[in-house]
Amino acid sequence: MARHKIGVIGGDGIGPEVIAEALKVVDATGVEVETVDYDLGGARYLRDGTILPDEVIEEWRGLDALLLGAVGTPEVPPGVIERGLLLKMRFELDLYVNQRPFVHPDGSHDFVVIRENTEGTYAGEGGFLRKGTPQEVATQGSVNTRFGVERCVRYAFGLAASRPRHHLTLVHKTNVLTFAGDLWERTFNEVAESYPAVETAYHHVDAACIYFVESPQRYDVIVTDNLFGDILTDLGGAVSGGIGFAASGNLNPDRTGPSMFEPVHGSAPDIAGQQKANPIAAILSAAMMLDFLGESDAAERIRKACAELASLSGSTSEIGDAVASRI
Ligand code: IPM
Ligand code: MN
Repeated sequence: MARHKIGVIGGDGIGPEVIAEALKVVDATGVEVETVDYDLGGARYLRDGTILPDEVIEEWRGLDALLLGAVGTPEVPPGVIERGLLLKMRFELDLYVNQRPFVHPDGSHDFVVIRENTEGTYAGEGGFLRKGTPQEVATQGSVNTRFGVERCVRYAFGLAASRPRHHLTLVHKTNVLTFAGDLWERTFNEVAESYPAVETAYHHVDAACIYFVESPQRYDVIVTDNLFGDILTDLGGAVSGGIGFAASGNLNPDRTGPSMFEPVHGSAPDIAGQQKANPIAAILSAAMMLDFLGESDAAERIRKACAELASLSGSTSEIGDAVASRI
């Protein structure tokens, strides 16, 4: 019997292509996994209206992890698949940490962004008043609970304590978001007292954007809210060899259910089906999955092979083959 049971959602666009390479590489490590495929995403929705049935979520609770390529297609209005599938997964499975590592292929920086993954503006608070009229009002709130912020901040401190530099930066916008920012800052400072070995810093998110570009080597671990983390991690990808290398783990650190691993890039419908996508982000996401499942040796071998092949160009499957054969 396979050691780990993994749910696989290839999804839309380049998703299935890059996931095929990620699974090829997992196979090459010799770690035994049993995969269960789930046909979900924009294409499935267009075919029969299915987004994410509750029975599927219940089935997932019995799995060890989920690996996702990308979801979303231009034919479906914005938000339907994002909220109905991706955010529903994050919320229902309580994947409250979104961990996104950024290691530049030239070794010049190595930092991790811990993005709160279940609250903030993503919680969906808000609505319309007088929609479609000239007096229309739209509000979009940001939900920040002490519980939600604290568990994410604690995870970030734990991670910082486990890394050689022991450094953690809170990124927010406390000078303008004086309610949410205050809660985040107070929580951060209180949790810091339990981690005397971790050195801390605070940066406003706009300043952090400059530092990401000009001096990313200053960072070790960063913790931030959901929306700031979304935006900053695209920038993180752009300054770390490109979004084609950016991996992520949507984690339930309490392990009350499976965690979900996915490349940060989207479905890229313009290049779908052409074997043009870089599978490295999906492969590194699979490595994060193996790490989380306790297969750290296999994960390390994958990361090493990817680093050695960082400048390789070729088709999606050629790159996957090259990584697999190096393991
Ligand atoms: C990401 C993506 C998602 C997000 C979208 C697709 C809902 O951009 O994982 O970063 O905003 O979280
Ligand atoms: Mn994003």
